[in-house]
Amino acid sequence: MSTELKEQLKKRLYDSIAAQIDLIDYVPEDLHRLIGDFKFDADILGPIPEDVDYVRSATESAPRQDSNAEANVADKDVLATHINTYYDTAFYSEHGITGILLGNPESEYRNIGYWDETTPTQHLASERLQDKLLEFIPDKTGRILDVACGMGASTRRLLNHYDADNIWAINISARQLESVKKNAEGCHAQVMNAVDMSFEDGFFDSILCIEAAFHFETRQKFLEESHRVLKQDGYLVLSDVLFTDPGRLEQHAVFPSVQNHIESVEEYRQLLSAAGFRNIIIQDVSKEVWGAHFLYTINRLHEEFYKGKLNIVQLTEILWTYYYLNTITGLCLFVCAQK
Ligand SMILES: C[S@@+](CC[C@H](N)C(=O)[O-])C[C@H]1O[C@@H](n2cnc3c(N)ncnc32)[C@H](O)[C@@H]1O
Repeated sequence: MSTELKEQLKKRLYDSIAAQIDLIDYVPEDLHRLIGDFKFDADILGPIPEDVDYVRSATESAPRQDSNAEANVADKDVLATHINTYYDTAFYSEHGITGILLGNPESEYRNIGYWDETTPTQHLASERLQDKLLEFIPDKTGRILDVACGMGASTRRLLNHYDADNIWAINISARQLESVKKNAEGCHAQVMNAVDMSFEDGFFDSILCIEAAFHFETRQKFLEESHRVLKQDGYLVLSDVLFTDPGRLEQHAVFPSVQNHIESVEEYRQLLSAAGFRNIIIQDVSKEVWGAHFLYTINRLHEEFYKGKLNIVQLTEILWTYYYLNTITGLCLFVCAQK
């Protein structure tokens, strides 16, 4: 977003809030309780490394081409730094808002879940999302890899079907890997980038990847790597989110270059097919995933506010973030494909 546009937006918001405050002639006695001594924390999503602009412009991202191998390595490191700064800060923060923003203060899953009207909590929605994906794998035998395993809640749940010795988990964050080792004892947990795996060809019977492929530089490389490390007939199952337009990828440093933008289910299918996969199933689960998570979270935030656990500044700030995320979120997909 241009500086001028940002300034306009700030002024618009300020004017609107100021006008509403001016209109209040009854000031409730507990106003101080609502506001508290909360100070606006612009760094709520974690410090931003100094070497790179937080918001990249379209022209700055142009050198992120396959033809420039050296620049790509550097870019990959920069992207990994941003992703780790963002998630490590968010996942381990004591900050009340961050816990609620991620929707999972009571669980170490870090995905938005799969919901219907009978799903009561975020934790159960996250478990359900994983179970739905695992249903795609007909017989759960042999070795499985949990790609971008977060803090290891999904890795632990794999123990319902697999022995620890047959479960591998990778993440680019060393810090999260420490949690994985505690959460999924005995499983093989390694720091590794999903687009550059060190496993030998044909090592795994199945691969699971929950809600992370939109960070990979690129999905194409991840799909090729997955195809390489899978045995013949092995399954790749994943949940993924497509953004509303390529420009969205430019807006936040935790997302890869615009080359990673996928416009449609058909384009995703072609990418899988080009990587060598067959028997491709892609389901649009947008309503059950982001749609339901969004409504649940908005409700929950208001509940927390009325219980006095969030003050008005915190509520406004997090609602702003959620509505922003709602504008960038396009399709949520379940994908299953066979080598
Ligand atoms: C939204 S979280 C999902 C975590 C986990 N799958 C879950 O469901 O709880 C995204 C995760 O992707 C990981 N990640 C992002 N880019 C990665 C990459 N290139 N290779 C491996 N892990 C990556 C992040 O560290 C983070 O743990």
